Amino acid sequence: MHPKHSSPSAPSSCITRREFLAASSAALLATSIDPASSAAAQSSASSPTLALKGGDKAVKQSPKLPLRWGEPERDRLNAMLSQDSLFYWKGPQTTLFTERFKRVCPSKYVMPCSSGTAALHIAVAAAGIEPGDEVITSPITDIGTIIGVIYQLGVPVFADLGAGTYNLDPADVAQRITPKTKAIIAVHLCGNPCDLHALKTLADKHGLILIEDAAQAWGSRYRGQPIGTIGQFACFSLQNSKQITCGDGGVVASNDDRFGPLLQKFGDKGFDRLKGGLFESFATNYRMSEPQAAVAAAQLDRLEMIISKRSQIGNLLTEKITGLPGVLPHQVHPEDRCGYWFYFFRLKPGALSCDRAEFVKALVAEGVEASAGYIPVPLHRNPVFQKHAFFAGRWPVRELGLTKMDYTAHKTPEAEAILQSGIRLTIHEAMTDEYITSVAEAIRKVSHHYVA
Ligand SMILES: Cc1ncc(COP(=O)(O)O)c(C=O)c1O
Repeated sequence: MHPKHSSPSAPSSCITRREFLAASSAALLATSIDPASSAAAQSSASSPTLALKGGDKAVKQSPKLPLRWGEPERDRLNAMLSQDSLFYWKGPQTTLFTERFKRVCPSKYVMPCSSGTAALHIAVAAAGIEPGDEVITSPITDIGTIIGVIYQLGVPVFADLGAGTYNLDPADVAQRITPKTKAIIAVHLCGNPCDLHALKTLADKHGLILIEDAAQAWGSRYRGQPIGTIGQFACFSLQNSKQITCGDGGVVASNDDRFGPLLQKFGDKGFDRLKGGLFESFATNYRMSEPQAAVAAAQLDRLEMIISKRSQIGNLLTEKITGLPGVLPHQVHPEDRCGYWFYFFRLKPGALSCDRAEFVKALVAEGVEASAGYIPVPLHRNPVFQKHAFFAGRWPVRELGLTKMDYTAHKTPEAEAILQSGIRLTIHEAMTDEYITSVAEAIRKVSHHYVA
């Protein structure tokens, strides 16, 4: 069976979802942790002076982060320069990029495009989102997740998130489904796979389309299945900060025969390059070009090395900081693969005598690349949503009575709490186990110093 048409595999017997959630909620809610078994206790015999207070730094040496491109990219660009066209259609670089992409994300239909935002807009247009249709998604994401929804005159509905995964909470999504709901956009934040089994089951039950926003999830796997092969659409970004890049770029893919054939048209001004003819659909120009495809094709060859390393060191960090006082590690299901676009852990409210700013300051003094939070507020708390001011200060969908959405009344309390208590750590494939161990040691030092 083709992966896209198969239902996501149920959690295997190693650990059930119920056990996983029960264990993780217990860990999140616990007010005290068994001192005998915790990593904290094992290494808390002596608490060295914080670097912030004049002590030695826990991180002695920062890793050297090499350039993320070189010979393979140069070779592809050189090959491209001997071509007489740099246009995407039937372009050798675009063809190669598409072939390599299919190995990473097995897909029948693939449209390389200019950004992750473009990929998501193409998906929403191909999904047939109509004016006033509701699309449920995460409030902690890049605004590119919902730009296409707004442009298609759809209505983003923000659901709340899992306290430790930072991904859509299927129970909260279920409560926000109305007769107007048409799709769910599941954002795999930081490359951590969403609970796709629950979301796909919900989508199928209500006849909704599932779009996977895998912009941050290159190389991730859900219960062993490549990310992007469970929803009807997969959308990736190749923007500069992503695990692989061509500066700016994206790709949208599908295995669904209803939607897949539309991807090319919706990324190419509505023009059908296979059949030609008159315009039957309306779209903008989101085409990728050969220079982008050349670099992206070379980058895809590096992907497995990059993601296997990131996954290993991210998991190592979790192992090392689990049980530290006041620290809630990034929660990834043991059977999933997360490419850790970055590592995000939370401070447990009330467990420490310092605030987050002080904790981050202390970590930075220890030599850790850390910063507070991610986006400043959940998306719908930005002025453009609060004022419903998407089109020259206006929102036709509301003015026409197609929605009563009022973002000033929209609430996602866990998302707010995540952004207020989260600390972001840089992860890079060039980091060694020794370096990650020293980062964990810095977190241990700081959490022990401030334990309430
Ligand atoms: C989750 C998510 N969705 C969508 C996008 C949009 O991608 P791009 O910046 O390539 O338009 C991004 C980019 O940061 C992202 O992180």
